[in-house]
Amino acid sequence: MLTEHFFNRNKLKTPYPKELKKIISLKDSELAFEEINKWKGYNSTPLHFLDEIASELGINEIYYKDESPRFDLKSFKALGGTYGVLMFIQNSLKKEIGDIVSTKDIYSGKYSKIVSKYTVTTATDGNHGRSVAFGAKLFGCKCKIYIHAEVSLGRKEAMEELGAKVIRVSGNYDESVHICKNEAKSNGWYIISDTSYKGYTEYPRYIMAGYTVMIKEIINQLKDKPLPTHIFLQAGVGSFPGAICGYFWERFHEHDIKIIIVESDLAGCLIKSAQTGKMSSVDIKKETIMAGLSCGEPSLLGWEILKSGADYFVTINDDLVPKTMKLLLDNYNIEAGESSVAGLVALMDINNDQNLKNKMGINEQSVILLFGTEGATDLKLYQSIIQNNKLGII
Ligand SMILES: Cc1ncc(COP(=O)(O)O)c(C=O)c1O
Repeated sequence: MLTEHFFNRNKLKTPYPKELKKIISLKDSELAFEEINKWKGYNSTPLHFLDEIASELGINEIYYKDESPRFDLKSFKALGGTYGVLMFIQNSLKKEIGDIVSTKDIYSGKYSKIVSKYTVTTATDGNHGRSVAFGAKLFGCKCKIYIHAEVSLGRKEAMEELGAKVIRVSGNYDESVHICKNEAKSNGWYIISDTSYKGYTEYPRYIMAGYTVMIKEIINQLKDKPLPTHIFLQAGVGSFPGAICGYFWERFHEHDIKIIIVESDLAGCLIKSAQTGKMSSVDIKKETIMAGLSCGEPSLLGWEILKSGADYFVTINDDLVPKTMKLLLDNYNIEAGESSVAGLVALMDINNDQNLKNKMGINEQSVILLFGTEGATDLKLYQSIIQNNKLGII
């Protein structure tokens, strides 16, 4: 059920503002792509066409970018945190050696004596930490990851398997961010965070640039198919939707593509920010099943883009999440994790409200782009959700 919505604008967007290019630009995106597409195991992830669901909903097309096979990490986050770690190592080596070191040399272990002394750290609800741990392993530095009380054991173990030391703290995601910040300061570790705040923006920018590799792939995969008219972006702190929104805004400004931000009703910090007109936090009182979206404080940079780039903010509850995961598995053989289906759930909710549909301009001509941001990032949890969902098809 759609629990809340907010209309952010009803006029055409201006061209992508110069000040936002300092956060994310097509040039940053190009640099990220040039680097990431050289990594071992890099492959474009599939773009599925959900034709049956589209015709059932009376919509022209639904595209679903499926991040479940992204490297071996099963989420789009692999594009961000890993790239952030690499950029940190490259920048640090430049400071120490006084020269630019190629990523090939970092990869080959030429500077391993220096790199092995670095420690990267982050707070996470699973996916970003896994990506940072993967980067640390790939490029040869140490890694400490902070998780909150509710992060599943499966997600914790996935990070440990990559060699990270994982520290569980009491409290929620936002508290783990604060503890990580303090520990990094006292131990001389470097934070590679996917959320940004005043005084900490350099690495979140790289991470956001890494996420946009998905769009480069999508554009290639569309071939002669039309660009989307509406993009649904599920949000935690807002770095992912901010990056995608910024890219489309800069490159396809004249197409006036509508951006719809989808949050859990238990963690609606961006909708609250949009409603109040200033960056605002919410207290997480209960964890949503969509663990990746359980964030109460927006990312400064993500919000900077979304406050003028997003057209609508909506929140959904957990009710339809298991059924929608099963719907994608049964009908398309798509492994969609909990946070993955948020966009489709929101679309189905909106579709039940003709008034809202009209206002959002969703109709039989619409072309919807959804991001399946994760696969079974905790396999046991995924299987139990699928098996316990007796109702099956929606
Ligand atoms: C699977 C998944 N989808 C979406 C998101 C949302 O990304 P962001 O927190 O940058 O808004 C996350 C964040 O962790 C995630 O893990």
